[in-house]
Amino acid sequence: MKIGVIGAGFIGRALATLAVKSGHEVMISNSRHPRTLGSTAVAIGCRIGTAQDAAEFGDVVFVAIPLLAYKEIPEVPLAGKIVVDANNYYPQRDGAIEELESHATTTSELLAEHLAGAKVVKAFNAILQGDLEKDGRPAGAPDRRALPIAGDDAQAKQVVTGLIDAFGFDAVDAGPLSESWRFERAKPAYCIPLDVAGLTQALAAAERDVEVAHGSWRRR
Ligand SMILES: NC(=O)c1ccc[n+]([C@@H]2O[C@H](COP(=O)([O-])OP(=O)(O)OC[C@H]3O[C@@H](n4cnc5c(N)ncnc54)[C@H](OP(=O)(O)O)[C@@H]3O)[C@@H](O)[C@H]2O)c1
Repeated sequence: MKIGVIGAGFIGRALATLAVKSGHEVMISNSRHPRTLGSTAVAIGCRIGTAQDAAEFGDVVFVAIPLLAYKEIPEVPLAGKIVVDANNYYPQRDGAIEELESHATTTSELLAEHLAGAKVVKAFNAILQGDLEKDGRPAGAPDRRALPIAGDDAQAKQVVTGLIDAFGFDAVDAGPLSESWRFERAKPAYCIPLDVAGLTQALAAAERDVEVAHGSWRRR
């Protein structure tokens, strides 16, 4: 499969690396000229381009940028494509976004609203970059970790589930995008290593107005 990656920071690079290792053709991009990604591309074994190029290149396109920039993602080339949204909302970084503060919507629904026609699947937002690179295990391993996904398109979720499996994780479907708040920042499933049963429980236990202690997911 051809995979475009928009965002070449911690999580974009980790996703690109896993995708290349899984046998996919990958193009990575950032907010600047592709020449700023030369050594990164050599290290990963992928192509480089602009965000527009990566959006055009991918059958599946990962978005891994600070949420504040989501309106800069090119809409036209992504219409009809599978877009995997790894973004999170950190108000101190992204600025306060009223619809998220009031729980009127979710981070992925904001992106989906911007990318009309794209099949947005929320995934890979609820695992720390270092864990994404080291916690993958073969299917059936007793300590295999599970990752949550959400989306409104069943076929798109199936494709993303396949990628999650290839990257070494089980997927747990949390439902439509409107339920993706269950694994946004500071929910019980956020960046905590859990198996399928534990993750299913954590998703069910999430409450919209209740957050776990900030940063607790980094102190393991
Ligand atoms: N770090 C983690 O462990 C982790 C885990 C899960 C999810 N996330 C989420 O994933 C997203 C990225 O996190 P990160 O830690 O990878 O961030 P990061 O290291 O700061 O990297 C951000 C990347 O996004 C690029 N970018 C910014 N605006 C862009 C635009 N308009 N078009 C194209 N690329 C753009 C930046 O490019 P330039 O350098 O050119 O500005 C940079 O390559 C965030 O929403 C974060 O909350 C992070």
